[in-house]
Amino acid sequence: MAATRPVALVTGASAGIGRELAHILAREGHDLVLVARREAELTELARELKEKHGVDSRVAPADLAQPGAAQDLVEALGSPTPIDVLVNNAGFGGHGAFAERDRDADLRMIAVNVTALTDLSKLVLPGMVARGRGRILNVASTAAFQPGPFMAVYYATKAYVLSLSQALAEELSGTGVTVTCLCPGVTETEFQKVAGVEDVPLTKGPLAMTASAVAEAAYKGMQRGALLVIPGLHNKIGAQSVRLAPRKVILKVVRRLHPVEK
Ligand SMILES: NC(=O)c1ccc[n+]([C@@H]2O[C@H](COP(=O)([O-])OP(=O)(O)OC[C@H]3O[C@@H](n4cnc5c(N)ncnc54)[C@H](OP(=O)(O)O)[C@@H]3O)[C@@H](O)[C@H]2O)c1
Repeated sequence: MAATRPVALVTGASAGIGRELAHILAREGHDLVLVARREAELTELARELKEKHGVDSRVAPADLAQPGAAQDLVEALGSPTPIDVLVNNAGFGGHGAFAERDRDADLRMIAVNVTALTDLSKLVLPGMVARGRGRILNVASTAAFQPGPFMAVYYATKAYVLSLSQALAEELSGTGVTVTCLCPGVTETEFQKVAGVEDVPLTKGPLAMTASAVAEAAYKGMQRGALLVIPGLHNKIGAQSVRLAPRKVILKVVRRLHPVEK
């Protein structure tokens, strides 16, 4: 990696929004640390980023569901590896009744969406604060704005990400470090297949955005230090309207977006 270029660490860089963010960060002159489980995809991405943008990437395969994964990752980078931009994007969802869903799958979801994101932020933030600059982009979801019956754990993890991100942004004001929370709505990625929601009403509508449009909005928001980025007017309106509607109504509507077969 070139000592002159800022370094961005992107989790979940092997696909979807994370992969697009890695391209944008490379285009904007960052060297990359690319994190996900699929090493072959990361290696191919690193090659593309070098070819298109001339930047260097470090491929750092990791399963962020494993205990201590964030610490192992940071230790493997060696010290001192200043991270200028941290993109906590890795995450996945899961569909089904809470009482019936696989316990291990839900605990892994919490480990990736919540624990790894929290721990990586804890590990990287002190260096950013000491240097007086840095940006963190945490990927939540429009799911963060209300509970999600039949995707209960996923929605709850994203509510955590939104809450943590906004609290940290305030704690860090005046330090030169910004925290931005990205809340995309339905986006065309591998997410729907992984979560088992390819055929539910929520994901079948015409309003899905491309991963590249979401990533561009996220990058712009992060650069201006925005607290919250909700890409797409329809998603912004949706996020506002759940604040006004009664909770019981919201719960009935959301369960219809991804019902389970009875
Ligand atoms: N797509 C949507 O509709 C949507 C909407 C709102 C929010 N989001 C959020 O956007 C973020 C990115 O998702 P996406 O839509 O781009 O989905 P995606 O295409 O499925 O990408 C998810 C990324 O997370 C990585 N990941 C998953 N489990 C991991 C683990 N245990 N360890 C390390 N990396 C792991 C995956 O890499 P490997 O499989 O190689 O590990 C992949 O790179 C997620 O946090 C998701 O919750 C998505």
